[in-house]
Amino acid sequence: MRLPGLIDVHVHMREPGGEHKEDWASGTAAALAGGFTAVLAMPNTRPPVVDEESFVQARAAARARARCDHAQYVGATSDNASALAPLAEQAAGLKIYLDPSYGPLRVDRLGPLHQHFAAWPGGRPIAVHAEGAAVATAVGLAAATGRPLHLCHVSRREEIALVRAAKERGLPVTCEVTPHNLFLSERDARAIGRGLCEVRPPLATPADCAALWDNLDVIDCFATDHAPHTYAEKTGAQPPPGFPGLETALPLLLNAVREGRLGLEDLVARLHHNPRRIFGLPLPPDTFVDVDLAAAVELGSEPLQTRAGWTPFAGLKVRGRVRRVVVRGREAFRDGEILALPGSGRDLRDAAASRG
Ligand code: NCD
Ligand code: ZN
Ligand code: ZN
Ligand code: ZN
Repeated sequence: MRLPGLIDVHVHMREPGGEHKEDWASGTAAALAGGFTAVLAMPNTRPPVVDEESFVQARAAARARARCDHAQYVGATSDNASALAPLAEQAAGLKIYLDPSYGPLRVDRLGPLHQHFAAWPGGRPIAVHAEGAAVATAVGLAAATGRPLHLCHVSRREEIALVRAAKERGLPVTCEVTPHNLFLSERDARAIGRGLCEVRPPLATPADCAALWDNLDVIDCFATDHAPHTYAEKTGAQPPPGFPGLETALPLLLNAVREGRLGLEDLVARLHHNPRRIFGLPLPPDTFVDVDLAAAVELGSEPLQTRAGWTPFAGLKVRGRVRRVVVRGREAFRDGEILALPGSGRDLRDAAASRG
């Protein structure tokens, strides 16, 4: 079965400042092994991507080492709204953390939030980490300013209900859901292990999980929120939140297709068509993924490309395997082997990328 090149609109590459967790070469190897040919990278690196200098450096690192296509988000602080607006054309989008998560970025006061929504040019999404009532804050800002809002990792029943209501009102709101929120709940936390199960937003209830499945029609994207931290860090005294996800997402979702919980075209819409439309991404020629829907996989039983080296889905048996990934006519992955070299990916915001 052949799928178009899949796009993950929410990944953390950890370069600079966290290369022991992941860098562009290892993270994009994980992307290709998982069937993704493009990734949009979050700005919560060390230092974070919050001005022109850090943005230029982040893009240079990606150009030098990425093995698949890429684009870089810029991150909001309480005083950088006017500095970010000129970078919008070259950015994947603007990222605002309304709630605390991993890294220093957070904007929770209304004044700076409104400034960001007002200053950011209309053509690129504003992606937000917002939990609970903060989702309503973000939706209100999108309604008041007309800016396109993209809600990251929606995980709870009340949140997806509000997304539905906002869409029914015609507001410029889109959202993504992670595989871990579709396939894991707080009931799995004990089996995953203390520390390892830490993630923001936290694993929700089985009822929340069911609500996501019941509202698939308002979920625009599946995004991994690939948030690599090492096993030692996750099992240490101060476990950082986050799960690696690039190499497990497609097998899990293909298994859901086989089980009849999801249509294949629903999957392709949320991993390819909708990401392209929402983020205005070009379609690289001759770029595709060959998958085997019948092949059995035990997640975590084979070596992973991510430097995180572990998965919260370890031991889960599914069917659905990535066989071969071709990017712009070149074989990038085949049967477990990464063939694409660091630096072979393109920045999708470069003008040349849209010409193929
Ligand atoms: C993410 C990380 O580690 O960068 N962690 C997480 O638990 N999701 C940050 C984020 O996406 O909120
Ligand atoms: Zn987040
Ligand atoms: Zn994230
Ligand atoms: Zn299609």
